[in-house]
Amino acid sequence: MIPTALFIAAALISSPDGVLGDFDGSRFAWYSSDAANKFENALPIGNGRLGAMVFGGNTEKVVLNENSMWSGPWQDRVNKNARGAVDDVWKKLLAGSITAAGQSAMSNLAGDPTSPRAYQPVVNLVADFGHSSLGTNYTRWLDTYEGTTGVSYTLDGVTYTREYIASYPHGVLAFRFSSSMPGKLGVKLSLSREKSVTAQTASAARSGSSATSVVSLNANSGQSSGAINFWSEARIANAGGTVTSDGKTVSVTGANTVDVFFDAETSYRYSDVSQAQTELKRKLDTAVTAGFVTVRAAAIQDFTNLISRTKLDLGSSGSAGTLPIPTRLSNFRKNPDADPQLVTLMFNFGRHALVSSSRDTGPRSLPANLQGLWNQDYSPPWQSKYTININLEMNYWPALITNLAETQKPVWDLLAMATPRAQAVAKAMYNCEGIVLHHNTDLWGDAAPVDKGTPYTIWPMGAAWLSHDMMEHYHFTLNTTFLRTTAFPTLVQTARFFFCHLREWNGYWTVGPSLSPEHAFLVPSGTSLTQANKAEGLDMSIEMDNQLLRQLFSNILTACAALLSTDTTCSLAATYLPKIRPPGISSRTGRIMEWRTDYPEQEPAHRHFSPLFGLYPAAQLTPSVNATLSGAAKRLVDHRMSSGSGSTGWSRAWAVGLYARLGEGDTAYKHVQEFTKKYPTGNLFGSDGGTGTAFQIDGNFGLTAGLAEMMVQSHGGNGRVHLLPAMPGKWTKGRVEGLVARGGSGKGEVNVDGKVYKGPVETVKGTKYEVRAKLA
Ligand SMILES: *[C@@H]1O[C@H](CO)[C@@H](O)[C@H](O)[C@H]1NC(C)=O
Ligand SMILES: *[C@@H]1O[C@H](CO)[C@@H](O)[C@H](O)[C@H]1NC(C)=O
Ligand SMILES: *[C@@H]1O[C@H](CO)[C@@H](O)[C@H](O)[C@H]1NC(C)=O
Repeated sequence: MIPTALFIAAALISSPDGVLGDFDGSRFAWYSSDAANKFENALPIGNGRLGAMVFGGNTEKVVLNENSMWSGPWQDRVNKNARGAVDDVWKKLLAGSITAAGQSAMSNLAGDPTSPRAYQPVVNLVADFGHSSLGTNYTRWLDTYEGTTGVSYTLDGVTYTREYIASYPHGVLAFRFSSSMPGKLGVKLSLSREKSVTAQTASAARSGSSATSVVSLNANSGQSSGAINFWSEARIANAGGTVTSDGKTVSVTGANTVDVFFDAETSYRYSDVSQAQTELKRKLDTAVTAGFVTVRAAAIQDFTNLISRTKLDLGSSGSAGTLPIPTRLSNFRKNPDADPQLVTLMFNFGRHALVSSSRDTGPRSLPANLQGLWNQDYSPPWQSKYTININLEMNYWPALITNLAETQKPVWDLLAMATPRAQAVAKAMYNCEGIVLHHNTDLWGDAAPVDKGTPYTIWPMGAAWLSHDMMEHYHFTLNTTFLRTTAFPTLVQTARFFFCHLREWNGYWTVGPSLSPEHAFLVPSGTSLTQANKAEGLDMSIEMDNQLLRQLFSNILTACAALLSTDTTCSLAATYLPKIRPPGISSRTGRIMEWRTDYPEQEPAHRHFSPLFGLYPAAQLTPSVNATLSGAAKRLVDHRMSSGSGSTGWSRAWAVGLYARLGEGDTAYKHVQEFTKKYPTGNLFGSDGGTGTAFQIDGNFGLTAGLAEMMVQSHGGNGRVHLLPAMPGKWTKGRVEGLVARGGSGKGEVNVDGKVYKGPVETVKGTKYEVRAKLA
């Protein structure tokens, strides 16, 4: 089959080989100490379903996750007063009673209970080596190329090594503990969990047999009925030594190596206990029979097949790049230009995290949540849900442009799960056909409004944004089967909701009640039943909503044309599209207006760039599409940033993409460096506000995507590919390979400096980088 994407290699300038120490500073994060029992220092691996956080202490702790272990069953949270309430709120908004509208919405439309389910850990693996210290030459590393992590140290003349693998092909995690001298390895292994354990057993293999020892722990989410159950098991295969068990732990003494294979399965994916247990046994039997060396080789081959598609070199840091991560992070804060390889490592870390946390693992695969799939808390920040007013979407921004399109499959699975819920909520709350999602969902596809506040709860736009991500998947892959069977039906379902729900206001089709995600405005004086200057969130004809609607209806027209569809949705979308209110530009500030009226904003430094959805990730406000609008968009992002936005990791990462779209490479790179100074925790995870604040993986993904957007752009639907559209002056040497542009076919041609490159483009060098790719 011909590759359907246009692969681009763009020389940034020259390409000297990096100075490599023991650990290539663009590929490895390494440490000379353990995680000191801090989750934010532990190192993450995963196979798209199982996740492991490796702490590396003298007693090893590995926090283990399975991405379908959440706090409970499906819940119907639709507010019992909802029917008719939407009309009442709309009338209040129309009458200018903003505060009263918000109060009515909170009483009659907010979900009950207000929150969907929370993501939960499964178990910890504890491996006690009987070592009172970590000896000398302690080294801990994460390999972002192979997707593996490890620990090594020397104690009493023996070097102990621990290797940790997450295998997508075998569906298990596999760990090898070894000693440099025979018979020197002892370890006591157990699984532990603080809550709701239903069974815990361990047994030693009979001496002399080839059987493995087993520790297992089963638990549930704590409800008396409908609980999510999981079954977890570690199989232990030792070379040399003797094995005993006390019924809860397995102890190995005098061994050369000890291999551990781990799986957990939950009731989310299996209709009964025996099916889940059969699958657990099947995976572990297969992995144990294959053995650690084979499992490791297959896992690494699979991982590197994906990772190696894209290569980035931003120049060498010399010896600065060979230092341990805590030193590099601290040096970077003082002199960011001295370690460009740390930026390359952050780019690679984002791709490592995406491949590790989101794969097609079969039916009901689940996407990366707010923490990817790494979580040790029973009450994680924001329940570690799928927040769909930016965060879940941002998780997948690097997927297409950095050539990892298949990592999006779990998002489509979640949308399939959500569809019947979203239809039920559309009917119950809005009396409409089609689908509606609000600003968060969980593993059940919960579609009801979430939390209780006028700036965030009543936002019926989740499906509009997610269906756009499906369309983008089509633009990058040109997979018409996907367009026909997955994207188009979702676009149609989403549009059917809006054909019913939209109301005419000032001659435009308008969403109301709605809000601009998480941002409040100050109510103008003179509005009835309101208190002037009171902060409110609820309104109608929100700028972001209009951009999402315009995107939805134009995506439908594109899909209809590509599929030669005569569905009535096609002609309806054509009539709705011209009646979406165009962006307003403030006569006071010259900026894109966030709301229908030029309300004063509550937080000039607000973290969400919702009215700039159309600048990035969408392309309604980009310079090549409309210079007037992009000028107004630039004034808004400049205003936000100079007021102090970029105040969370993901917000700072979004700024990178916005400035990349504006062609401002120096500013984009400034925010890349600001992100890298402030937001990575010890293990490079993105955080809400720096070390010690909540972990959120979206910032990592947004940063990787923003860097890619500085190097290749292909938005605007005009067939253009821009190579190196936002180069910072600080990038004086480097190379990128394997980024992907929209609409490619492998038969395109790229014209640089008047020279035409045909076929899959290998290398393009030139000074005039704006190019037109003529696609077959
Ligand atoms: C220290 O550990 C590293 C990484 O495992 C290894 O390459 C190196 O040889 C070790 N050095 C000594 C002195 O043991
Ligand atoms: C195209 O999409 C279909 C439906 O989602 C999927 O089954 C198929 O694997 C995709 N083809 C490729 C080449 O990815
Ligand atoms: C750009 O957008 C403005 C404001 O919506 C509009 O008036 C103008 O016609 C647009 N220009 C083009 C070339 O589409």
